[in-house]
Amino acid sequence: MLALENIEVSISGSQILRGVNLGVSKGTVTCLMGRNGVGKTTTLKTITGLLTQTRGHILLEGKDISNLPPEERARAGIGFVPQGREIFPHLTVEENLHIGCVARGKSAAPGLERVFALFPVLKDFLPRKGGMLSGGQQQQLAIGRALLTEPKLLILDEPTEGIQPNVIDQIGDTIRLLRQEGKMSILLVEQYLDFAKELADNFAIMDRGAIVASGPVESLTDAVIQAHLVV
Ligand SMILES: Nc1ncnc2c1ncn2[C@@H]1O[C@H](COP(=O)(O)OP(=O)(O)OP(=O)(O)O)[C@@H](O)[C@H]1O
Ligand SMILES: [Mg+2]
Repeated sequence: MLALENIEVSISGSQILRGVNLGVSKGTVTCLMGRNGVGKTTTLKTITGLLTQTRGHILLEGKDISNLPPEERARAGIGFVPQGREIFPHLTVEENLHIGCVARGKSAAPGLERVFALFPVLKDFLPRKGGMLSGGQQQQLAIGRALLTEPKLLILDEPTEGIQPNVIDQIGDTIRLLRQEGKMSILLVEQYLDFAKELADNFAIMDRGAIVASGPVESLTDAVIQAHLVV
């Protein structure tokens, strides 16, 4: 589905990614993990085209998308929920939801009921400004917006960061449902081990700009966690 081959990225002259190799199989959830500052967000931004690699290739369903601009990658089926959510605070919930679809030249209507079923609070707050929502509600809005574009690959950067437990559960339920449906592949950056273990099929751990461990989530043992994740 998605393959990163030897991706290198530099920001302001310093090399951040040092040859990242990562694969996401169709219909699976892959959790990208690692301590703070190891390059997780940089990897996701490179997949979505917000950053450009200096070496390596990115393949989506076998097609080289390494040099496509972000909007063409979105049209090719990549949906992105960035770290810190990044909704439009001055637009209403309704406008925020429509904007992702406009970008892909689609109507939001067919997917809206499904998003409201997943996140009922969004329906209640349609006329409210995005910036007035709680952090958890903004995260649901950001995920809802991404789902409306019907991505083949949904990328989420720390969706549970700084969010109250009941919303974490709702987000977990949503990911579980999407996984069961098996139509969408999901790449998730997640710091909470329990959340990752419960939802992911596969894991990959980064350290200093490279993948240092990966495999089925059953092989994410305490020894691996001790070696690469415990601070
Ligand atoms: N715009 C930037 N300018 C300079 N350095 C940057 C920039 N963005 C990221 N970096 C550096 O790149 C490295 C990787 O950052 P990145 O955000 O990818 O890490 P991360 O694994 O997502 O961390 P976190 O868990 O804190 O979200 C860090 O050392 C960071 O300081
Ligand atoms: Mg990050």
